Amino acid sequence: MIRTILTYPNPELKKKSAAITIITDSVRGLVQDMAETMYAAPGVGLAAPQIGVHQRVIVIDISGKNEPPDLIVAINPAIVHAEGETYEEEGCLSVPDYAANVRRHARVIVKALDIDGVERTWKAEDLLAIAFQHEIDHLDGVLFVDHLSTLKRELFQRKARKAAEDKR
Ligand code: NI
Repeated sequence: MIRTILTYPNPELKKKSAAITIITDSVRGLVQDMAETMYAAPGVGLAAPQIGVHQRVIVIDISGKNEPPDLIVAINPAIVHAEGETYEEEGCLSVPDYAANVRRHARVIVKALDIDGVERTWKAEDLLAIAFQHEIDHLDGVLFVDHLSTLKRELFQRKARKAAEDKR
């Protein structure tokens, strides 16, 4: 089922998500809905709090639309190693019509449970490394715009307020 994606400045996006202790049918259903919602958007990643569920689950697929799907499901993901630096443009399904460059680690090692509860390790670089950092941030209530300089963030907030006013 495709779920509604919450958008900035919805306060639900600022809340920290809780670890999953047991992978139940409802967790499997959540993952299914998240994947459907991400592909329908379309997007390359989605975190559970973006659909209002405060549990530590992310889905990522950076394969692109002309490639076969390559879905990553990461439950309770943790970055266990990070190195290097990158500065690439990011967007977010929860921050429509806005993109900005964000400083991230260029390479990360991520440990998480997969949908079967098996511990998996991903060595990620470039776009996948950025996607992991971006989605894991969501689980801690952090959006990519929170990483911007004060000046850039103020410009973004002004633009967002104006867009909200124009909608009224
Ligand atoms: Ni996002």
